[in-house]
Amino acid sequence: MNITVIGRGRVGGGLAGLWEEAGHQVTTLGRDGGDASHAEVIVVAVPGHTIADALQKVSGLDGQVTIDATNLYTARSEAFPSLAHQVKSIIGGPTAKSFSTVFAAAYQQISTQRVTPSNLYAAEAAAKSVTERLIRDAGFDPLYVGDLAPGARLLEDSSGLTRALAGQIGPFFYRYAVPGEL
Ligand SMILES: NC(=O)c1ccc[n+]([C@@H]2O[C@H](COP(=O)([O-])OP(=O)(O)OC[C@H]3O[C@@H](n4cnc5c(N)ncnc54)[C@H](OP(=O)(O)O)[C@@H]3O)[C@@H](O)[C@H]2O)c1
Repeated sequence: MNITVIGRGRVGGGLAGLWEEAGHQVTTLGRDGGDASHAEVIVVAVPGHTIADALQKVSGLDGQVTIDATNLYTARSEAFPSLAHQVKSIIGGPTAKSFSTVFAAAYQQISTQRVTPSNLYAAEAAAKSVTERLIRDAGFDPLYVGDLAPGARLLEDSSGLTRALAGQIGPFFYRYAVPGEL
């Protein structure tokens, strides 16, 4: 797929590398923006409080399937139910939230785990198949939590728990399983 990742830091740059290894064509854009008109999929990986600024500098955003990976560590604007909804209000395409609950610092170790790590995602119906594919192509097992509302906000609100755990054990993987699966 032709993917444009907005944000080329730990998450954006890291995912770009994983997806290129899986055969995708990936362009990453930094804070200076650029053109995304050739992208089939947009991935947003900028600090949550910079979404409006970062996307405003990108041309060619026009209804593409979008995956929002952002978290927020400053006060939240209640103008949108979630950061993913804010992203959707700008890009306008079928939207998902994913990669916000997994650690970029561990991307290089995904493939060597004994079991495939989970990656939670929320998505509108029309964004589900692309999101699942890109989660798998990054090396994770996709686990759907539901539609963008309320799923995206639930994932964003879990960042406090994620950070508390990381404070105890460092970057980690997680795996959800039904009884009998493990
Ligand atoms: N790090 C993780 O493990 C992790 C995990 C899950 C979710 N997240 C979330 O993913 C997002 C990206 O995190 P990250 O760790 O990849 O961040 P990072 O390494 O600091 O990279 C941030 C990227 O955003 C770009 N950007 C665009 N507009 C910006 C602006 N106005 N101000 C600041 N930066 C701007 C930066 O551009 P330049 O390259 O030009 O500086 C950079 O490429 C955040 O929302 C974070 O909460 C992070």
